[in-house]
Amino acid sequence: MTLLGISGSLREKSANSRLLAALTELLPPNVTYTAYEGLAELPHFNPDLDGDDSWEHAEVQRWRALLKQADAVVICTPEYARGLPGSLKNALDWMVSSGEFVNKPTAAISASPHPEGGAVTLESLVGTLKMMSAEVTDELRLSVPMVTKKFAADGRLADEKTKAELRRLAEALLRPVR
Ligand SMILES: Cc1cc2nc3c(=O)[nH]c(=O)nc-3n(C[C@H](O)[C@H](O)[C@H](O)COP(=O)(O)O)c2cc1C
Repeated sequence: MTLLGISGSLREKSANSRLLAALTELLPPNVTYTAYEGLAELPHFNPDLDGDDSWEHAEVQRWRALLKQADAVVICTPEYARGLPGSLKNALDWMVSSGEFVNKPTAAISASPHPEGGAVTLESLVGTLKMMSAEVTDELRLSVPMVTKKFAADGRLADEKTKAELRRLAEALLRPVR
């Protein structure tokens, strides 16, 4: 089984990336996890280029190929100004016409240092994924509030409630694949 993870944050010490790292530690051994780290390499989405068969961009091809090969996908993102980070939305826009998300089991997580947990952005992310016909059910969505308080000094996830939520989410995500 292959699971593709995407952090919506480009920050080196991102809490969202660390949550994804914590999730990988909870996965069964038969799951191969790959982190997609090419958000900053993707060109700005342009429907003219997307519809041009003679145009090929190596990073767009790579992003599409990774998604196509993945049995399931997990996205974990911060909220920027009550919306999705532009680089993540840009990456998702490249997938609208090519259809890699269709019927793909996909988990959506938002995390924020604020008590709302990026809930507005989670709603927006789920809306975008549903528009692309991804399989994103209610048990595949999670918002993590006060995220910065959930890590130990070494940067590892220390909060048992969040670990349990991530474990439940991973089980629900991989169930249809199994
Ligand atoms: C430009 C900017 C806008 C932000 N807007 C929001 C927001 O609307 N809601 C929110 O909960 N947090 C907001 N934040 C705080 C982020 O949630 C916080 O920086 C978070 O740790 C980023 O995730 P990361 O650690 O994975 O990079 C914003 C941060 C930045 C830099």
